[in-house]
This record gives sequence, structure tokens and C-alpha cells, in this order.
Amino acid sequence: MKSMDSLLIRAAFKLPVERTPIWIMRQAGRYLPEYLAVREKAGSFLDLCMNPDLAAEVSIQPLDLMEVDAVIMFSDILTPLIGMGVDLDFNPGPDIKNPVQSVRDIEKLLIPDPSESTAYVGKILRLIRKAVAGRAPVIGFAGAPFTLACYLLENSNLKPFTKLTTLFFDDPDTAHLLMRKLTRMTIDYLNYQIENGAQMVQIFDTWAGLFNPADFETHIFPYVSEIISSLDKKGEVPVVYYINGSNHLLDSMSRTGADVIGLDWKTDIGEAQRLIGERVSLQGNLNPNILFCRPEVISRKAEEIIRSYHGETGHIFNLGHGIDKSVDPQHLLHLVRTVKQLTTRNG
Ligand code: CP3
Repeated sequence: MKSMDSLLIRAAFKLPVERTPIWIMRQAGRYLPEYLAVREKAGSFLDLCMNPDLAAEVSIQPLDLMEVDAVIMFSDILTPLIGMGVDLDFNPGPDIKNPVQSVRDIEKLLIPDPSESTAYVGKILRLIRKAVAGRAPVIGFAGAPFTLACYLLENSNLKPFTKLTTLFFDDPDTAHLLMRKLTRMTIDYLNYQIENGAQMVQIFDTWAGLFNPADFETHIFPYVSEIISSLDKKGEVPVVYYINGSNHLLDSMSRTGADVIGLDWKTDIGEAQRLIGERVSLQGNLNPNILFCRPEVISRKAEEIIRSYHGETGHIFNLGHGIDKSVDPQHLLHLVRTVKQLTTRNG
């Protein structure tokens, strides 16, 4: 199967599909007992990320167990920072021992060769492609510069973002220096993933909703657009751009060059479609907490989203943010089957 044949890639490019594809952010993770068993075997979370055989195994688990339409490689948005000289750990949230505190710290950050610093990622992607053998497309991903900067500056203690805000508004030149380095790293990293088999890539900008539209345009948009326009295989490997809390930024997001905009659950997908649906496909956007509800409720809430989106292609079903670690896997399976059933078109 060529990736263009898959529902996911066709929906991303608004080509005809027989039904709406579905995958789930954080689909490889702690809600699955099978994931926990492999993680136990690997040791720490980072050990698992850097063990290509085991990371490929947990990436593929949701395809077999949850019947989703895509495999996202198992990793984290922060792991490529290690190659820049960042001392990173997870407990289980990110823990950076040497956060960026000065211009000197930014100058010291390295621009790594991804085939050296993240060779394990290339290997994971190749292993997944081989094992999946065309049954589903493989998604790669990276954190966007702004969201990486959030973690780099304030560690896992993210609130109240005082350091980040003062850097961007008191000292925009220094912020620019940091964003430039993170942009350069991310371009090389995503192109390395594409070279090694990623058939779609998602850029996670979880925290970019912190800024208002004007500040987003000045401080975030140029870097994200540069990343997207610098990717190899544009028009063949679709790009998804995701922000959590993005209702006020949809118009800007749709002009970054991304093929697909990932919506959080607070946005009405029908309204988003009226606003930006001509330009881009949409991904999302069930409230992740709905997966704790009864199966009938899950079906009803999924149906509301499916009915709000008009048109026969251009929608990729997903949650509005990652799946919670306490969700019953049977509830996710119910969602996946419901979406497939509700969106299958006859003939
Ligand atoms: O989607 C997938 O299944 C692929 C794997 C994936 C992980 N993290 C695995 C992970 C992806 C795509 C991510 C992205 C990520 N990581 C984001 C962007 C998306 C978002 O959630 O907003 C962010 C902000 C991070 C940073 C990060 N990594 C946090 C905040 C945490 C702690 C979260 C928690 O649930 O405790 C992590 C750790 C992490 N990344 C885990 C997993 C499965 C849990 C660690 C474990 O298994 O012990």
C-alpha cells in the first residue's frame, strides 16, 4: 500500500474517502496494560523511548488492540532536546536539570545531526514500517519551538509562565535566538523522520494558545511556517499543526502551511470548518474526558462531532488532547468502532 492509498493521508489532503479515519493522541500509553508490561521490561520511560524494538512494539499495540487507522511512533516531543545538550528525565512528567536561564545557555545549545543524536528514532520508524507492512500509515511528530521553549525555561513547573512571558516581551531578541535554534533543530529532526518512513507528521504546539492572536503572529507563527515550508515531500507527507486552547488562533493556524489543523475539544468543529475548512483539513475533537462516560454517551458525543462536520472528506477523528491514563481501553475500542460505523458510506 502506498501511503496515498490510506484513509488518513487521503482525508488529510481532502481526497475521497470511504469513511472518516481515526487515531488517538497518546494512543500508545499507560491506559493500555500491554504498554505497561513493555514499559516495565524496558526500565524507565526514556529507556523505552531509546529501545527501538520495544518502542516499535508499543507503537503498534493500538493498531492491533484498538483498531485505529494509524500508528504514531512512540517517543516524546522533548527527547530530541537531549542532542542539544539538555539534561532530560521524566518522573513521569518532564524534568530538565539544566533549564535555560541566560543568553549563554541558549548559545551553548547544539544543533545536532538527527541521524546521530536520534538514530533510535530512525530505527523505530523503519521497524514500524516493516512490521506494519502497509496495514496503516505511520505518523512522526515533533514539538513546536514555542512549546519546547516552555519546558526548556520553566521545567515541568509550567505555571504561571512568568519566565517565558518576560523573555518574549522584555527581551524579544533573546527569545528569537532560542526560537531560531529550536526551529533549525526541528526542521532537521522532522526531515530525518520523513526520510526514515514517517508518512504524516504532527507538530505539537500544546502551549501556543497562551498568546493572543497578534503576539502569536509575531512570536510563534513565523517559526512554525518556516518549519512547514522546509519539510521534504510537501504535498506527499501531510503536516498536522496542533495547539491546545486554539479557538482564537484558528485563522492564523490555517495560514502556517499545515495541511491539517488539530482542534482541541472546546472549539465547535462545524464553526472551525466554516472559518478555515476551505484551506485545511481538520483533526479532532472529542473531549478526552468523554471516554470515562458510558458507551452510549461516547457514541452520542462522537456522533455530534461527526454531524457537525460537513462534507465527505477532510476530517480525521481524534480526541481534542491526549487520552488519559485511567481510561478503560474497552471504551476507546467502542469509540473507534462507533466512528467507523457512523461514517462508513455505502457504495
Ligand atoms: O501519541 C502517542 O502515543 C505517541 C507518544 C507521545 C508521548 N508524548 C508519550 C509519552 C507523544 C506524541 C507525546 C507528546 C507530548 N509530550 C506532548 C504534546 C502533546 C500534549 O500532550 O500536549 C507534550 C506536552 C509532552 C511532554 C510530556 N511528556 C508530558 C507533559 C509528560 C507527562 C504526562 C503524563 O501523562 O504524565 C510526558 C511523558 C510521556 N510522554 C508519557 C508518555 C506515554 C508518560 C510517561 C510514562 O509512560 O511513564
